[in-house]
Amino acid sequence: MVHRFGSWSLCIAILVLVLSSIPCSNSVRIKNIFKTNSAVFSSPEFKMRPGSVINKYYYNIDFSRGHIAVKSFNAEVVDESGHPVPLYETYLHHWVIYRYYQPKGNPQKLNESNFELLGNSGVCQDNILGQYYGVGSETRKTPTFVPDPYGIEVGNPAEIPDGHEERWMVNVHAIDTRGTEDGLGCTECRRELYNVSKDEHGRPLRPDYKGGLLCCYDETQCRLRKGFQGAKRSLYLRFTVEWLYWSDFILPVKIYMFDVTDTWDPLNPAAHDCKIEYDVAKSCEAGRRCIDSKRTRVTMPTGGYLVYGVAHQHTAGAGSALYGEDGRVICASIPIYGKGNEAGNEAGYVVGMSPCYPQPGSVKILDGETLTHESNYSSSQEHIGVMGHFYILVADQLPNPLKLSMHSPL
Ligand SMILES: *[C@@H]1O[C@H](CO)[C@@H](O)[C@H](O)[C@H]1NC(C)=O
Ligand SMILES: *[C@@H]1O[C@H](CO)[C@@H](O)[C@H](O)[C@H]1NC(C)=O
Ligand SMILES: *[C@@H]1O[C@H](CO)[C@@H](O)[C@H](O)[C@H]1NC(C)=O
Repeated sequence: MVHRFGSWSLCIAILVLVLSSIPCSNSVRIKNIFKTNSAVFSSPEFKMRPGSVINKYYYNIDFSRGHIAVKSFNAEVVDESGHPVPLYETYLHHWVIYRYYQPKGNPQKLNESNFELLGNSGVCQDNILGQYYGVGSETRKTPTFVPDPYGIEVGNPAEIPDGHEERWMVNVHAIDTRGTEDGLGCTECRRELYNVSKDEHGRPLRPDYKGGLLCCYDETQCRLRKGFQGAKRSLYLRFTVEWLYWSDFILPVKIYMFDVTDTWDPLNPAAHDCKIEYDVAKSCEAGRRCIDSKRTRVTMPTGGYLVYGVAHQHTAGAGSALYGEDGRVICASIPIYGKGNEAGNEAGYVVGMSPCYPQPGSVKILDGETLTHESNYSSSQEHIGVMGHFYILVADQLPNPLKLSMHSPL
């Protein structure tokens, strides 16, 4: 299952760009100089038939072990022969990976009484959106690498409680839209296309609930065109992790996730209410664009330097941004729509989100600063169950040029 190609370099030849000379933000031209290790892993198999939905949680998945800095995490859905599966066949609603502690020797299944989730640095309630990485249909064209000298620190033996080990869990939510009556409707989890009146836990749906995650839970079925026949097939989430063994040269980053549906009370800034998804009503002002612009405000408990940022949006997404208290743009991220037929370029789907890689030190968030989070969608038609999330990596420290040049692999 594990295929290691040992050490290889993202780009050994380029030393120049790392420090002061990174020319632009919002660019993916930055190259790392540290030689990363890389390994390809695979989730357990999941089976999909036309119209079917899976929402699986796989615990104790294969992952890079040891005290490491995770440098990138990329994933895609593949079939049994390892071929990428396009989104118009299997729509990847999302995958998310979580880190947790469990007593050594425990079976691989979830045991809630001794399962300790290690969430990210916030900010939603109850570790909702507490993942380390996670995206959806945009996974193939969204860069995730963390620029040098930064990394996401995991597996530090000094932090793992005695008798425990660190493990990883992946949640995969996929919707097979082959032969469906309304493919977009299936991916938006529209209630009328799923024959459900109760949620996964048997609770009745609100009468006004038009759709969303409560309708497309594991093993539900989206409506097919009459008479459509299609094969059941075995699929996998294949993912590639790049990492470095931890060293003093690496600076840790904190992960924050924001949700535009979050509501927040200035009198109780710790209380959050992230709802994960929302609906976009059809709305076009005369002579103006049809845009639904949703905003919320969120206070950063502690600030730091922005190292990376990217938004998550669904089909019809039209861009998202985080603004500082003074109105400056902290990061803007826009969807990339596919234009063709091949996996990674499926017409009409969000196949990537543009990331932010600011010049080190150029984007500083203050301690306790209140950010505005904006998520725009096209509102030329109604959309159900869309998302407006923002993922950022923040560092306490700026790179130390001296240390870096000493570590140069060349
Ligand atoms: C969870 O693990 C503990 C300790 O190993 C055990 O006592 C308990 O019965 C387990 N609970 C479940 C629900 O399996
Ligand atoms: C919808 O679900 C009900 C039971 O919940 C079942 O009797 C019915 O056949 C289903 N309809 C379709 C079209 O699958
Ligand atoms: C969102 O839409 C509003 C209103 O049209 C616009 O002012 C703003 O610049 C847009 N933001 C992004 C990130 O595209």
